[in-house]
Amino acid sequence: MLALTTTAIAWTIAVVIALGWIVYAFLNLRSARSELGSEIELAANRKPYYDDEELEGPRLERLQVLGVLMLAVVVIGLPLYWILEPSRQAGAQQAQENQFVKWGAELFASTEDGGFNCAGCHGGMNGVGGVAPFNVTDPLTNQVTAVNWEAPAVNTINYKFSEEEIRFILVYGRPFSPMSPWGLDGGGPMNDQQIDTLIAYMTSIQIPRENCGVGEDDPLVCPSGNLPADVQSDIDTRAKQLVDDGTYESYGEALFNLDLAGGAYSCARCHTQGWSWGEPGVTGAGAFGPSLIGGAANRQFGQESDMIAFIEVGSQLGQRYGLQGQGSGRMPGFGAMLTDEQLRAVVDYVRSL
Ligand code: HEC
Ligand code: HEC
Repeated sequence: MLALTTTAIAWTIAVVIALGWIVYAFLNLRSARSELGSEIELAANRKPYYDDEELEGPRLERLQVLGVLMLAVVVIGLPLYWILEPSRQAGAQQAQENQFVKWGAELFASTEDGGFNCAGCHGGMNGVGGVAPFNVTDPLTNQVTAVNWEAPAVNTINYKFSEEEIRFILVYGRPFSPMSPWGLDGGGPMNDQQIDTLIAYMTSIQIPRENCGVGEDDPLVCPSGNLPADVQSDIDTRAKQLVDDGTYESYGEALFNLDLAGGAYSCARCHTQGWSWGEPGVTGAGAFGPSLIGGAANRQFGQESDMIAFIEVGSQLGQRYGLQGQGSGRMPGFGAMLTDEQLRAVVDYVRSL
């Protein structure tokens, strides 16, 4: 914005100066022509100049005033430049980011709006989560069944994954699901910049965080912020409701299986086969994520607190977790989404599997 104003002013000045030169050259040409032959009366170099009175008086003063004016321009102009330049740069950067978000939004839009239909599966431009039609093939009988696969919310994606991890998801997709690969490396149609703009767009639609730390002034990404209290209490209410109506036996079990309405908080969509299309197999027996049953997860983490710490931050590519686990970056971190009490409840449940 500021950058645009400055550019406009600079152009105006440049045009005025250019016009001035043209007018000056034109006048000069004319006066030169009318003087033709005048040197016969008085040679040009013999033109009488100002006398001392004039030279040391008004003329000198005029030049001194001009000098003071130039000094004033420098004295005022330089500090002004110094003051305005950082905000001009910030403005330019912001303008570029807005441009990225705008391009990303065009890609994210549904097919009928000319985009790649992220919005169509993920619950509209706000990415609140939706369903995607899909065909699953039974590995034993090869029977194909049409199902509706729950597509998770992407408006909390920055809470759970680092930017690199999100890039991996977009480039390679989840090839066993309706989420196809989108990047060239994964066999999809988009180049690196298109993936970057999609990430910028998804960042712009994150649910703004609460309790950001000092100096973390962007509520869309601030590292120490967490889910707003109303969204949090919605998870709480829905989980308790499912225990009250007898669907699940414990609060932890309810959290593990919580459906996607209003967000993708569930563990089951990755750790229970068939959960995503409403035909869950054995809970926690493994799907995209490893099996958690039969004490497998307990052997991985000696102490309950170790497992809580892992689920808080998720896995990181190449990093060790537990006793002999090595992360791929695909297990999300839930520290910014679930309260300490909820984390403990869900881990208690996992340890009981
Ligand atoms: C045909 C439907 C469909 C389309 C189109 C689609 N997705 Fe997905 N997406 C899904 C499903 C289903 C999943 C979950 C897969 C699973 O169960 O792991 C998913 C997963 C994701 C995830 C990971 C979320 C998580 O928490 O695990 C992200 C991020 C994502 N999609 C972004 C996008 C973007 C950006 C686009 C557009 C370029 C897009 N999706 C297009 C259906 C779709
Ligand atoms: C987006 C899919 C996804 C979701 C959602 C998810 N996980 Fe995972 N989880 C994984 C993957 C993948 C791994 C394997 C680690 C890796 O690849 O980095 C994993 C690993 C684990 C492990 C370690 C298992 C072992 O023996 O190595 C535990 C425990 C676990 N998840 C619990 C949970 C809990 C509890 C939740 C819900 C709060 C959850 N997961 C949600 C994908 C997921």
